[in-house]
Amino acid sequence: MSKKIVILNGSPRRNGNTSTLVKAFTEGAGSAGHTVTEFFLDRMEIHGCKGCFGGRSSRECPCVQKDDMIQIYAAVRECDVIVMASPLYYWNMSGQLRTAVDRLFALEEGDGNLLRGHDRSCALLMAAEGNGFEDVVQYFDHLMEHLRWKNLGHVLAGGNGDVGDIQGKPEIEQARALGRAV
Ligand SMILES: Cc1cc2nc3c(=O)[nH]c(=O)nc-3n(C[C@H](O)[C@H](O)[C@H](O)COP(=O)(O)O)c2cc1C
Repeated sequence: MSKKIVILNGSPRRNGNTSTLVKAFTEGAGSAGHTVTEFFLDRMEIHGCKGCFGGRSSRECPCVQKDDMIQIYAAVRECDVIVMASPLYYWNMSGQLRTAVDRLFALEEGDGNLLRGHDRSCALLMAAEGNGFEDVVQYFDHLMEHLRWKNLGHVLAGGNGDVGDIQGKPEIEQARALGRAV
C-alpha cells in the first residue's frame, strides 16, 4: 500500500550528512511507491511554542501562531509516516527540529487529538561527529510511546563531522532500506 510520508529535516546544511540520509530514505521510499514530502525546517519560519494551551484556534492551523507550521500541520494530519531527521546537537535534536516537534502539540489539543487519532509510524535519522546518541534515542522512544506512533527505529550515523563525511558509509544503505520498508 502506498503511504504518505512526511520528513522533518532539522539540519541547517542542505547537503550535509543528515540530508544525505534523508535523500537515501526518500529514494528507498519512492522505489516502494510511497509519496514523500520533505520540510527543510531551517528555511522555514517556525517560532517556538508559547505554552498558551490555545490549540483549537482553527482546523487549518490549530495553533494560535500563524507561521509556516501551517504547511506541516496539513501534511502531518494526512500522513501515515513521519521521519524526524537531525544532526546531533549537544546530545539532542537540533533546535530547528525540537521547535517543530513542540509545535505539533497544537494538533494534540484540537478535534480529539489529531496526532494520535490515526495509525501513524515514525523513524529517526541522525548524523553526528561522535556517537553519543543514547539521550536522544531515549527521548525519541518516549515520544513514540506518548504519541502512540509505531516506532520504526533509528538510523544513527556517527563519525561524521564535516559535510560529505558520511559518503560511502553503511548508514546510507540502512536509511534507503528503511525507506523501502515503511
Ligand atoms: C551546535 C552543534 C552541536 C553539536 N553537538 C554534537 C554532539 O553533541 N555530539 C556530536 O557527536 N556531534 C555534535 N555536533 C556535530 C554534528 O552533529 C555533525 O557535524 C553532523 O554531521 C552535522 O550534521 P549535518 O551535516 O546534517 O548538519 C554538533 C554540531 C553543532 C554545530
